Amino acid sequence: MYNVILFVSIVVGLFFTGKLIKHKSLYPFMPLKYNFKKRRVTFKKVLELLSQINAKVLIETGTSREGLKGVKSQGAASIVFGKWAKENEAILHSVDISEESIRVAKMEIEVQKLDKYVELHLSDSVEFLTNFKEKVDLLYLDSYDYSEDVEVQKKSQEHHLKEFKAIENQLHKNSIVLIDDCKLPGGGKGKTVIAYMQTKGWQILIEKYQVLLLHKDFTE
Ligand SMILES: C[S@@+](CC[C@H](N)C(=O)[O-])C[C@H]1O[C@@H](n2cnc3c(N)ncnc32)[C@H](O)[C@@H]1O
Repeated sequence: MYNVILFVSIVVGLFFTGKLIKHKSLYPFMPLKYNFKKRRVTFKKVLELLSQINAKVLIETGTSREGLKGVKSQGAASIVFGKWAKENEAILHSVDISEESIRVAKMEIEVQKLDKYVELHLSDSVEFLTNFKEKVDLLYLDSYDYSEDVEVQKKSQEHHLKEFKAIENQLHKNSIVLIDDCKLPGGGKGKTVIAYMQTKGWQILIEKYQVLLLHKDFTE
């Protein structure tokens, strides 16, 4: 009987240890229950860098259309960076072309009491970025949905390149650029824009599911 109890305890212990290892939280910044999975490492580094550069103006293309329910699948960056903005007297501008995405994101932003720190813009992202006149400390590219369809992949990659070019002049040497959904067949959202950025002095700091880039003149 003792052996059976010991065996069950070990199996249960291993099960929960495994779960804990797979659970990639941003605790204590975000509650422990949220699992950021493949985005944890890059979000964590971006949060550190934002503080390091004393960021004030953050931009996200493609808003959190599933609110915090989308932590695992989409990243919920509007809430993560919105919370950082609230705690650091900054502003996150999040732009989306879909009324529905904006509607859902707005609800979550209100629930989280981030509405003073997150401005939602209903617009095509390239158009929004073209007209944005402030200097940008964080640029997070995550709009045009990527898919298995090669034509869609090309359009998504072209769109993210256009986004970068539209705001390039508003970036500075300490700006942070993060691109989502990169480690995917066909090169992901970042393939074309990253190649362009590298010709302009941008260097990859972290290359995982998301790619994080800083300018070669970034001063720590
Ligand atoms: C993957 S979701 C964004 C997820 C969000 N960044 C997060 O972390 O939860 C992509 C969003 O991009 C939006 N989108 C697609 N094309 C766009 C465009 N041309 N301009 C702005 N937003 C666009 C979609 O409506 C969708 O809501």
